[in-house]
Amino acid sequence: MNEPWVEKYRPQTLDEVVGQDHIIQRLERYVKEGSMPNLMFTGPAGVGKTTTALALGKEVLGEYWRQNFLELNASDARGIDTVRKDIKSFCRLKAVGAPFRIIFLDEVDNMTKDAQHALRREMEMYTKTSSFILSCNYSSKIIDPIQSRCAIFRFAPVKGHHIIKRLEKIAKVENVKYTAGALESIVYFAEGDMRRAVNILQASSSMGEEITDESVHEVVSKAKPQDVRKMVNMALDGDFLGARDLLREIMVVQGTSGEDMVTQIYQEVSRMSIEGLLKGSVYIDLIQSIGEYDYRIREGSNPRIQLEALLTKFLLKTQEE
Ligand SMILES: Nc1ncnc2c1ncn2[C@@H]1O[C@H](COP(=O)(O)OP(=O)(O)OP(=O)(O)O)[C@@H](O)[C@H]1O
Ligand SMILES: [Mg+2]
Repeated sequence: MNEPWVEKYRPQTLDEVVGQDHIIQRLERYVKEGSMPNLMFTGPAGVGKTTTALALGKEVLGEYWRQNFLELNASDARGIDTVRKDIKSFCRLKAVGAPFRIIFLDEVDNMTKDAQHALRREMEMYTKTSSFILSCNYSSKIIDPIQSRCAIFRFAPVKGHHIIKRLEKIAKVENVKYTAGALESIVYFAEGDMRRAVNILQASSSMGEEITDESVHEVVSKAKPQDVRKMVNMALDGDFLGARDLLREIMVVQGTSGEDMVTQIYQEVSRMSIEGLLKGSVYIDLIQSIGEYDYRIREGSNPRIQLEALLTKFLLKTQEE
């Protein structure tokens, strides 16, 4: 699989970040002054919060930014205590080669109130040596004492003309042709989410010579039916790893959601049954499993894990035969 364009074209400097001019101007002042308060970045997905934090870190800390920049995810699977331990051991050391250290904590809105209060104490404890950048989708989920200790930056959905300019730039470097309408419809589907726009561009570029309105429609949120069919057949044939890899590829490259994916599996399995490619008893069992996993995904379970688990049900079916 090719390198995802969202990573390949992630802005490396502040002035490369598109469509957040007010924010960038304010942040560039910190770079000039060589110091910054605690910051909070809030806003919808895919608009440049993480990107901006990394770029700011590099510019404010200079050459040795790597040693002085700690990136953590508040919803780390190892638990919030591990996150806090990491913060502690990082903050205890003095900055070397840079004026101070930066802790970038992503997805803070997933922290419980208790954990947020503990975080607030840590922010106070290390103010002399470190600055925090907290990132979240909803600032309303962050306790007031933290909000009042941060300069708040509200990232807006990226405007259509900014998205188009960025896509044109990427398409030029990648040597990809497109019709005028194609980029417009990418903008329509992206809804201000630059990550989504770039993902749609990459996915539709692999569908033919030229990106057209149709190829965009085809890739948006929906997997190609033939890919789903292929994946289902692989699983039925006992090739779990192949099916799983295809599942991951579809979900990453095409950005298909768990809900869409399970619906499409259902559609494909139903079609196969109508076409006489599945025995009645197998079909019934599969529908039962699909129903169960559909429910789990909609209730908020990790869709990737659930879908991979669903694929194992297909596998067992053939082994029973
Ligand atoms: N303002 C922007 N300018 C240019 N590229 C952007 C911008 N915002 C997002 N992108 C592209 O989308 C990718 C994801 O952006 P980023 O990780 O910064 O999103 P985010 O705001 O942190 O989203 P989330 O809330 O999901 O964490 C980047 O790697 C980049 O390719
Ligand atoms: Mg982010």
